[in-house]
Amino acid sequence: MAEKKIIAVVGATGAQGGGLARAILNDPNGGFAVRALTRDVNSDKAKELAKLGAEIVAADVDDASSLNKAFQGAYGAFCVTFYWAHLSPEQEIAEIKAMAESAKKAGLQHVVWSTLEDTRKFVPLSDDRMPTLMDKYKVPHFDAKGESGQFFTDLGVPTTFLLTSFYWDNFIYFGMGPKRGPDGKLAITLPMGAKKLPGIAAEDIGKAAYGIFKQGPTMIGKTVCIAGEHLTGAQMAAAFTKALGREVRYNSVSPEAYRGFGFPGAEDLGNMFQFKRDFESYYCGVRNIAETRALNPELKTFEAWLAQNKSRIPLEEDAASA
Ligand SMILES: NC(=O)c1ccc[n+]([C@@H]2O[C@H](COP(=O)([O-])OP(=O)(O)OC[C@H]3O[C@@H](n4cnc5c(N)ncnc54)[C@H](OP(=O)(O)O)[C@@H]3O)[C@@H](O)[C@H]2O)c1
Repeated sequence: MAEKKIIAVVGATGAQGGGLARAILNDPNGGFAVRALTRDVNSDKAKELAKLGAEIVAADVDDASSLNKAFQGAYGAFCVTFYWAHLSPEQEIAEIKAMAESAKKAGLQHVVWSTLEDTRKFVPLSDDRMPTLMDKYKVPHFDAKGESGQFFTDLGVPTTFLLTSFYWDNFIYFGMGPKRGPDGKLAITLPMGAKKLPGIAAEDIGKAAYGIFKQGPTMIGKTVCIAGEHLTGAQMAAAFTKALGREVRYNSVSPEAYRGFGFPGAEDLGNMFQFKRDFESYYCGVRNIAETRALNPELKTFEAWLAQNKSRIPLEEDAASA
């Protein structure tokens, strides 16, 4: 039997990398093997992946020598960064540069780089429809990724650029789930007006990345934009209402109001949603659902994702049952 092609998976214990690791491990005859990169080889999540058949390797994206070692001997790598762990675009840029350099040194044949748009190509810093943040960004966690694609191209690393979408899992983990308003009713709050927000189950991102590795060299140099569905806030609220069996409304606020919510990253997310709202036809247009499903035939709709995950969404009790 031919040797399996090793994919070094950054963030293998997390959402995107985890989806890819499981997709490869669930397909033992697919011709690929997982090398799971983690900072803690003894964590429960690392052990779970080992049990499924992954090789577990210690690496930190802030430590270039650990990345160099972890990429050595692999066929390919899945690269992702963790903006919300530090909220520093400069750190994210340095991490992406380190991954591109390690990929080059290791002579990888295929890298899938999980990235997002540089929104400054759409909203230049001089455009005051939204504030400039940290002196040189409009949406720091998008722009840092978008501008860093050049590290891969300048070094000639054979790369597929994977542009992802809003995870529906944010309704579980990111504090974006239905909350009670002053009227006591549950509502999701987004500054999207009546515009559509492309979304995806985080697990489906990794499955699409696996589809890209399986297609192989024909995908090198391509930009692939993925989503599971494009839905308005009202449509998502209606899906919540149906899945949860109680009314969930859509609370549409202005981007200004969202930026003022005060949690870490609120301004960044307010600008992000405004970018998606103001450039809906571009942003939805490139995130083609049929093409995403061609890469990942198991792609979930929001309704299917909700059916599987509704019990994991934290909900405040209503006053009557509290
Ligand atoms: N939330 C969304 O809607 C959304 C949408 C599109 C894109 N994104 C982007 O997705 C990225 C995050 O990806 P994710 O959601 O897959 O992350 P995640 O689930 O938070 O996973 C993070 C994993 O990466 C590992 N990790 C963290 N820091 C590391 C480091 N310094 N070196 C090596 N490994 C490290 C951790 O594993 P160990 O502890 O085992 O090391 C952790 O399990 C962000 O940059 C975000 O902007 C998010």
